[in-house]
This record gives sequence, structure tokens and C-alpha cells, in this order.
Amino acid sequence: MTTKTKIIDGNAFSARLRDTLTQKVHEMRDSHHVTPGLAVVLVGEDPASQVYVRTKHKRTIEVGMKSFMHTLPADTPEHELLTLIAGLNKDPEVHGILVQLPVPKHIDSQKIIEAIDPAKDVDGFHPINVGRLASGGEGMVPCTPLGSMMLLKDCLGKLGGLDAVVIGRSNIVGKPMAHLLLKESCTVTIAHSQTRDLPEVVRRADIVVAAVGKAEMVRGDWLKPGCTVIDVGINRIELPDGTKKLVGDVAFDEAVKVAGAITPVPGGVGPMTIAVLLRNTLVAAARLHNLPDPGV
Ligand code: GUN
Repeated sequence: MTTKTKIIDGNAFSARLRDTLTQKVHEMRDSHHVTPGLAVVLVGEDPASQVYVRTKHKRTIEVGMKSFMHTLPADTPEHELLTLIAGLNKDPEVHGILVQLPVPKHIDSQKIIEAIDPAKDVDGFHPINVGRLASGGEGMVPCTPLGSMMLLKDCLGKLGGLDAVVIGRSNIVGKPMAHLLLKESCTVTIAHSQTRDLPEVVRRADIVVAAVGKAEMVRGDWLKPGCTVIDVGINRIELPDGTKKLVGDVAFDEAVKVAGAITPVPGGVGPMTIAVLLRNTLVAAARLHNLPDPGV
């Protein structure tokens, strides 16, 4: 291939977004005496979740927000978690609440999601926010799909009329991503484990969003030449020599030869998620205090 494929740099984009947020947080504090606050709740000792939560805390402090961390033992009863959430809902210093998923099996995650005040639901998982996204209202939008849209719009400009295929139908990524693409007037297909002839469906797409959690499942010869690929997957694989490596849901080395633009793993969508979480916290703080929309 002689044409150059654009490698979409999520690290650089998210760093710029965090710089903008830092500026807006200081403006809000200086002009309105409001400092946005984010509460993150982790139940149990899942090592990957511990890493995510620590990074969230660090980034929250870096942009000048308040960070409230709540780490609870794995055997915390559900009612105790619900009591904590009720307290955070009432706390005027807390504008965003995130309960790290997955929660231990004895806790009903949907009940937890529905206990969070929708105005503070910076994950956008509460049914009120899911409904607002689906019906076009002003709600909180899930972080990973919103971050993916920011990268897509930066790369392509207007998306109207483009064929988009989302692979995966999760509540966290696939379904909200499809709604966001539809809002931008794409023709949207949601593919999943029972889709017939997935390679043929993907071949029609100008935009491919892979969010299935299967290492390198999407092959280079499934792609329409010049398409834009957003790889949401983060899979840890072991190489023949025993070393471990992070890969996406797309076979990058093949796809990079066909696509017009592609997000790498790591360094693509991943860093966007936390930056958008901070963006959602700033927006939640503005709405809760009836301040102007921060415009990010
Ligand atoms: N676990 C993996 N992704 C997410 C996310 O976006 N939000 C929460 N709360 N937990 C997660």
C-alpha cells in the first residue's frame, strides 16, 4: 500500500481534552466557587479495576477536581453499598458518582446503577440517561462511546450518510455507540454473536466500531479499503515466547494496510474514557449548579 493510513492518537487527543478541562475547572472555581467532585466506588480487589480506579483518582486531581475514593471489601453487603450511594447522592461536594463494574456476584449491578441520582450518573448507565440518549434528550452519555465519537468526528468531520457497523451490543459500549452514530445521521448496523456472515456486513462499512472483547477477531480482509476503524477492545494475550501483550478486537497489522484511519491498542480509545469521565463530571457540576454549559 502506498496510501498512508492515519493512526488515530488517543493519547494526544485525551491530553488536549484534559488541558481544556483543567482550564474550565479553574474558571468554574474562580467565577462560581464550585469545584467539581467525582466519587469512585470500588468493591473488591479485582487487580484490573484497582488500576483503573487509581488512574481515575490521579487524573481527577490533575485537572483540579475533588476526588472521593471509596474502596470496600469484596463481601460488602448490597444494602451497605446502597447506603453509601444514597449519601453520595445527597453530598453537595459530589457531582459525579461511578461504581466500578463488575461488582461482586452477590450484588445486583442494575439495582446499584438505578440507585445513583441520574444527574450524578457520569457513566450514563441509569435507565433515565439511557432513555434520554435514545430519545434525543440532554442526559449523561457513556464515556467510552462518547470518547470514540470525539475521535471519529475529529478524523472525519461530518458523519451524515456514512455506513457504520458496531460489532457488540453491550450496554456500556455497543448500544450507546449505535445511538450516537444514529444521532450523527449514520446508517447504523449493530452486529453481534448471531450475525450471519459478519465479514460481509463489516465490508459494507465506512465506520467500523469493534467492541466484542475477542482478541484480533476482525481481520484485514473484512474491511472496505479506506474505512475508519475504532477498536474498543483491550485483550491481554500471551505470545508463543510467553510474553504478554495488549491487543484490540481488530488484527491491527492487517487492518492498518486496508483502513484509511485506525485507533491503535493501547493508545487509541482507552485514554479517552477517563478524559470523558472528567468531562461528564464537569458537565454534571455545571447542570447541578445551573451554570452555563462548559461547551466541551
Ligand atoms: N468497567 C469497565 N468499563 C467501565 C465503565 O465505563 N464504567 C464503570 N463504572 N465500570 C466499568
